[in-house]
Amino acid sequence: MIDLAADLGFLKLKNPVLAASGTFGYGSEFEPYFDLAKLGGFVVKGLYYGPREGNRPPRLVETTGGLINAIGLQGVGVQAFSEKILPKIRGRGTAVLVNVCGADDDEYVAVVEFLDAHEGIAAYELNISCPNVKKEGLCPALSPRTTARLVGRVKDASKRPVIVKLSPNVTDVVEIARAAEDAGADGIALVNTFLAMAVDLETRRPKLANVFGGLSGPAVKPIALRMVYQVASRARVPVIGMGGIMTGTDALEFLVAGASAVEVGTANFVDPDAAVRILREIEEWCGAHGVSRVRDIVGTLEIG
Ligand SMILES: Cc1cc2nc3c(=O)[nH]c(=O)nc-3n(C[C@H](O)[C@H](O)[C@H](O)COP(=O)(O)O)c2cc1C
Repeated sequence: MIDLAADLGFLKLKNPVLAASGTFGYGSEFEPYFDLAKLGGFVVKGLYYGPREGNRPPRLVETTGGLINAIGLQGVGVQAFSEKILPKIRGRGTAVLVNVCGADDDEYVAVVEFLDAHEGIAAYELNISCPNVKKEGLCPALSPRTTARLVGRVKDASKRPVIVKLSPNVTDVVEIARAAEDAGADGIALVNTFLAMAVDLETRRPKLANVFGGLSGPAVKPIALRMVYQVASRARVPVIGMGGIMTGTDALEFLVAGASAVEVGTANFVDPDAAVRILREIEEWCGAHGVSRVRDIVGTLEIG
């Protein structure tokens, strides 16, 4: 028997595999495929205070080894989430994390204050890094100053742990992670999607109505892994790694690079069972390599 438990300090997970926000609906959509209790946890689609329709279609494009999305954070809002969705997904034997969005600092705080009054949420994942809401990918995670200000405000308001989700669309991701940490982040999640675009040669028009979108999937994995290593090897708080994880081997690489847990995103579109398959593959690898506790391999990368 392999001990699969993951330890984020502020949150103990039964295993290190979570489903990533925006690729797993509100969780219940995946119940026909597997028992949610098999997961370490899942992160629901990004929530603003009110409902949002997101961007105009087309808003998803397949590319070589990846997906470009410009969904634009479509969501039901906190009221409908707490009344219609949360009662169905809490208490299912897995950690429910809410991906928190806002048009400004006040909205992020309002979302967290509203949700704090409702049971069944393990932690917030602060989405300061969505590249397809504003033109040209602008978001708070692009600057240490806006990151620190927002994280500080949310931490002051929140009763629950706050994991800050960073953007890869920066020159120095370590600087942004440090700003989040210094402002009180309990954990860091990275990466969100990479600002990207696709062109239709025949029409000479962008394939996405929004022009720009966010690239995810296997194409981004090596860059995501580099960023997770850079942040995790310096951070004082636990790191959740993601970006192109399709197999147990991919997930284990992120753990060795320093992630305490991983999120599986685009893989869910290819195979709705991906997260549980990846967990099984992690377990098999550990069994074959004499690793009795998965958390023992976190950060064991040897350099030099
Ligand atoms: C269609 C789609 C929607 C997404 N929506 C969100 C979202 O609402 N909030 C968020 O923080 N990240 C969102 N993401 C980013 C993923 O959670 C993840 O950070 C990213 O896709 C990288 O992981 P992957 O390569 O395994 O997909 C979305 C990604 C995709 C593909």
